[in-house]
Amino acid sequence: MKIAVLAGDGIGPEIIAQAMKALDVLKRDGLQLELEEAPYGGAGYDAAGDPLPEATLKLARAADAVLCGAVGGPQYDALPREKRPEQGILRIRKELQLFANLRPAMLFDELASASSLKPELVIGLDILILRELTGDIYFGEPRGRRINARGEQEGYDTMLYSEPEIRRIADVGFQAAMKRSRKLTSVDKENVLETSRFWREVVKDVAKKYPEVELSHMYVDNAAMQLVRKPKQFDVIVTGNMFGDILSDEASMLTGSIGMLPSASLDANNKGLYEPAHGSAPDIAGKNIANPLATILSAAMMLRYTFNQEEAARRIEAAVKKVLAQGYRTADIYETEMRRVSTTEMGDAVVAAMG
Ligand code: IPM
Ligand code: MG
Repeated sequence: MKIAVLAGDGIGPEIIAQAMKALDVLKRDGLQLELEEAPYGGAGYDAAGDPLPEATLKLARAADAVLCGAVGGPQYDALPREKRPEQGILRIRKELQLFANLRPAMLFDELASASSLKPELVIGLDILILRELTGDIYFGEPRGRRINARGEQEGYDTMLYSEPEIRRIADVGFQAAMKRSRKLTSVDKENVLETSRFWREVVKDVAKKYPEVELSHMYVDNAAMQLVRKPKQFDVIVTGNMFGDILSDEASMLTGSIGMLPSASLDANNKGLYEPAHGSAPDIAGKNIANPLATILSAAMMLRYTFNQEEAARRIEAAVKKVLAQGYRTADIYETEMRRVSTTEMGDAVVAAMG
């Protein structure tokens, strides 16, 4: 089981180090994991002048899974778009065809009071946001700047989905729903966008293959509202790249902190890239205060989805639950009376809880 480890920028290296400690425990107990690190994001730019250096992409292609930290930092903000750290993550998603992004928003009951919503609205919350990751306005052409007929400058992007792109993500959505409570909500903006009208038509057609699944459709503005009004009405949400980007950040807050949310980005063969849903948090980088749990939980998702090591995945998840029950809290989820710990202490606590 070959894993390419791309720590990236900001808090990336600190949180990745904690996930590697958890994986080391599994290695010690006999799991054949091979980890190799490479620079990407701003670190890739610093090392090789490219946010996704050739050698890094090669390593990621050769690996069975990729474990990422986060990318970005203010020192790179002025670079031209193709050199910016975010291009590292966007290009690797595209190059590896990682079209299915799974972002579970699951509340650990221990964190119910850290949620921005009342505990009764979120206790038991378990939503899976399935975001299409290699299409939409993120990648649609043409895009750019131009001078219009009135001589004014404009910027433009293209929202675009092809039928096969919609079919394959809808399939993943229905299959995920079949494994859960058989409810799927497709989110779009069908009342305004042609892309969304087409999206809805294709999703309805794919639904014919899954008669057991109860499919509903929701406009994205309403979905944003319903997520904070009555989040437990959702089970699996399937949506496009940009709506999924926005809704998954929103959903993360229901669970207490974006520092808790793992993610998996899969290709058609379950090769995957695993990363926390949060960013590189340059403001707290190097301070040893970031929450490593989203990254540790991403490593658990990797074991489950790419390596079929359900038991090892559960061992990590159970350890995370245990440290929360023991009262360990990094700053982002800290509440009075709890045990405030650093990034490395949280990593150590998880390792100890793995036994
Ligand atoms: C995410 C991030 C990325 C995205 C950025 C860093 C390009 O916000 O993974 O959600 O927009 O996809
Ligand atoms: Mg985002």
